[in-house]
Amino acid sequence: MSPGVDGLTINWAPRSADLARIGPGTDDPDEAVSYLGIMSTAIVTGASRGFGLALALELAGAGWDLVVDGRHGEDLGRAASRIDAAGRGRVIPLDGDVTDHGHLRSLVEAATSVGGFSLLVNNASLLGPSPQPLLAEYPVEVLERVLATNLIAPLRLIQLALPYLRQTRGTVINVTSDAAVEGYEGWGGYGASKAALEQLSNVLAAEETGITIYWLDPGDMNTRMHQEAFPGEDISDRPLPATRVPAVMRLLDGNHPSGRYRAADLLAEEVGA
Ligand SMILES: NC(=O)c1ccc[n+]([C@@H]2O[C@H](COP(=O)([O-])OP(=O)(O)OC[C@H]3O[C@@H](n4cnc5c(N)ncnc54)[C@H](OP(=O)(O)O)[C@@H]3O)[C@@H](O)[C@H]2O)c1
Repeated sequence: MSPGVDGLTINWAPRSADLARIGPGTDDPDEAVSYLGIMSTAIVTGASRGFGLALALELAGAGWDLVVDGRHGEDLGRAASRIDAAGRGRVIPLDGDVTDHGHLRSLVEAATSVGGFSLLVNNASLLGPSPQPLLAEYPVEVLERVLATNLIAPLRLIQLALPYLRQTRGTVINVTSDAAVEGYEGWGGYGASKAALEQLSNVLAAEETGITIYWLDPGDMNTRMHQEAFPGEDISDRPLPATRVPAVMRLLDGNHPSGRYRAADLLAEEVGA
């Protein structure tokens, strides 16, 4: 679809969810242009590998412009080349640490400079010690870093992004874990950070009714983080992260209300189970 507004041709198709939010249309060109930008730009943190990279590749293929990050510039550069090749849109890689407030500002500035910033995916995460210690022995200075990465950084990024996401009636996806709700031995530090992220998401959804907030448990995946959680174990039986990405696309293409979702449930829904 190539809708034209005042001679402007934009080559992408709006998502069904966007169409549902907007309704039958508008006679106001400014509103229409704003609408046309609604789906276009996403920030995905932690997109140099694992689930973040798999998601960024899929979003690029679906026509999104992307702002992506990761701490290691070379890894991120390689990932950005792949993301660039997967889509027609722009890819802006910004290496940095999500615990750095200045870096978070740069991410939002980049997304707003592209225009149509409407999706924020808080995916970057820190597991903590490997192997993971019992809480009785958990080094609290490491827990502070885990919380800074998995809880404080997502909130800061949401705070910076909210003024723009309100304008575009956008979406926040906070990537969480079953460790947020299960009492697995050794998962107390990481699990507490994800539980706090889930409750933050829950309250945010009640407060920000003009945008959509999802908190998503992707399930076990064969990634570096998962290997760190199970050092020395063969994790090759775990699903590749790309197999979980359709769950996110299901959220973005559907009309699911704000809330907690499990990728496994969304994938089952997709095949009509
Ligand atoms: N894998 C699983 O089984 C599993 C299960 C449940 C939930 N999750 C969740 O899924 C998400 C993705 O996990 P994953 O398994 O794909 O992890 P991963 O393979 O370790 O990838 C993590 C990504 O985040 C980046 N990153 C880490 N710390 C960062 C920081 N402080 N600032 C910026 N970027 C940072 C990494 O790049 P750099 O190292 O270069 O920074 C990398 O791109 C996480 O939220 C995780 O908690 C995973």
